[in-house]
Amino acid sequence: MTDTAGAGALPAQGMPAADVLDEIRALRDADRPTHGGRLFAYVYDPGVAGLDELAQAAYAQSAHVNGLDPTAFPSLLAMENTLVGAAARLLGGGPGTGAPDVVGSVTSGGTESLLLAVKAARDARPDLAEPRIVAPASAHAAFAKAAHYLRVALDTVPVDPVTLRPDVAAVAAAIRPETVLVVASAPSYAHGVVDPVAEIAAVAAAAGVRCHVDACFGGWALPWLRRLGAPVPPFDFAVAGVTSISVDLHKYAYAPKGVSVLLHRDPALRAPQFFAYADWPGYTMVNPVIASTRSGGPIAAAYATLRHLGEDGYLRLAAATRDAVAGLADAIRATPGLRLMAEPETTVVCFTSDDPGLDLFVLVDELTARGWHTQPQLTYADLPASVHLTVTAAVAPRVAEFGPALAEAVAAARAAGPVVLPPELLALAGSLTPEALTPDLVAGLAGGLGLAGGAGAPERMAVVNTLLDAAPARLRERLLAEFVGLLQRPAW
Ligand SMILES: Cc1ncc(COP(=O)(O)O)c(C=O)c1O
Repeated sequence: MTDTAGAGALPAQGMPAADVLDEIRALRDADRPTHGGRLFAYVYDPGVAGLDELAQAAYAQSAHVNGLDPTAFPSLLAMENTLVGAAARLLGGGPGTGAPDVVGSVTSGGTESLLLAVKAARDARPDLAEPRIVAPASAHAAFAKAAHYLRVALDTVPVDPVTLRPDVAAVAAAIRPETVLVVASAPSYAHGVVDPVAEIAAVAAAAGVRCHVDACFGGWALPWLRRLGAPVPPFDFAVAGVTSISVDLHKYAYAPKGVSVLLHRDPALRAPQFFAYADWPGYTMVNPVIASTRSGGPIAAAYATLRHLGEDGYLRLAAATRDAVAGLADAIRATPGLRLMAEPETTVVCFTSDDPGLDLFVLVDELTARGWHTQPQLTYADLPASVHLTVTAAVAPRVAEFGPALAEAVAAARAAGPVVLPPELLALAGSLTPEALTPDLVAGLAGGLGLAGGAGAPERMAVVNTLLDAAPARLRERLLAEFVGLLQRPAW
C-alpha cells in the first residue's frame, strides 16, 4: 500500500515541503503543550521571546556538522569547549578555584553523562572482576541502566521517608573493596532534594573511591538560586572528594534537547571515559562519548542559548522559577488532603495525599482534563505515591491560575472517588510473576486498559497507574516494556 498522507510509508512520489510540514504540525497537535507553563515534566520552558528562533537558526547552521572528528570541524570543538568551560565555572571549577584542572565532554543527555561517569569509574579499576557502585535509592534510574549496560553491580542505600535523603553512615557502610563509584544527587529528580554531598564525598574519599554528583537536573539552577540568596548546600567541585559532576543543558540551561555536560575534576579521571580503536582497516577512531557520529545541531543551539541568555538572563529566570515554586507550594499547602513530600528547596514541587478519599492518580487525570499536566510517581518502598512538578520559568505567569484549577480538580477527584480495580486484576497484579506474562495476557490487559490501538496513551491513566502501583517493581518493569512494545509498531 502506498500512502501520501498521514504517517504512512514512504510515498511513491515526494511531497511538497509545505505539505510535509503541515503533516508534522497535525501530528504535533496530539502532543502535550511544550510551551506555556502547564506541563510539569519533560520540557523546560524559559518563556523567553525569540529564544526558540535563535536556537533553531543555530541548530540549522550546524546540523550537518559531525562531532566524530574535532579536527575536521573545529567550530564544534570550539563550541563544546565553551560549553564545558561555562559549566565548569558555574560548578566550582576552573582557574582560580580549588579545581583548576576540570575537563569535560558534551554528551547527548543526562543518561549518557551518567553512563560515562560509571564507565570511567569502572574502567579505572581493571583489576576488579566484579565492580560495584553505591547510590541512594533516590538516584536517577539512569544509574540502574548504567549498571545494567556495563555489568556493574548497583548497591542502593534507602532514603529516609521524612528527609528523603540517605543516611551517610549507611552510604559508608555500603562501600566495599569492589566499589568504584559513589553517587549523590543535587537534587534528586523525584523529590527535588539535595543529598548531603559533602558528607557523601567525604566517605567516598576516605575509601579512595570516586564520587559523582548527579546535577543533571539542578546543576544549572542551584548556582543561580544560591546567588539569589537561597541556602543551597555545597554540592559542586568546591567539595573535596567530588570527582565528577553531570549537568544537563537541555534542562535548566533551556537549550533544545540533546545536550549535557560531564565534568571530571582532572584529565586523569576522565581518561578511562574515552574509547579509541585503531585495529581495523577504517579510520582511526576516538570517541570521548558513546555516540560516534554526532550532529553539531544541539551543541550549536546550546551555545547560542547560553550566549544569548547570559548570567543576567539565567538569574532572572531562576528568580521567576523560585517565585513560581513558592506559589505552587502555597497552593498545595492550602489544599486539605494534600501534603508536600518535602519543603521545596530547588525547582521541584512534589506532593502526596494523606486522605484515602482523594486518589492522587484520579487527581492527576482531573488536572490533565483541565490542561495542567503533572507527573504521577508510584509507591516505592515506604514512600507513598506522589505527584511531581518540574517547575520552569514559564510557569511563573500561570501560577495564580493553578490554585483554582487544583481546587476544582480535587473536588472532581473526591466526587469520582478512588480507583477500584476489579478484584481479579488486583489479584493478578499481586501474584503474577514477570516470567508468567504471556503475549496474550499482555494484549488482553492492554486492551482492557485502553492501551492498545496505537493511539498513544488514553486520556485517563488512573486505572493503569493503580494497576502498576499494585505490582512489584519487576512486574511494573515488564508491564511497561510490554505496553510500550505494543505502541512501537511500524506504520506501514
Ligand atoms: C537527576 C537526573 N539525572 C539524570 C537524568 C536523565 O537525564 P536524560 O533524561 O537527559 O537522559 C534526569 C532526567 O530527568 C535527572 O533528573
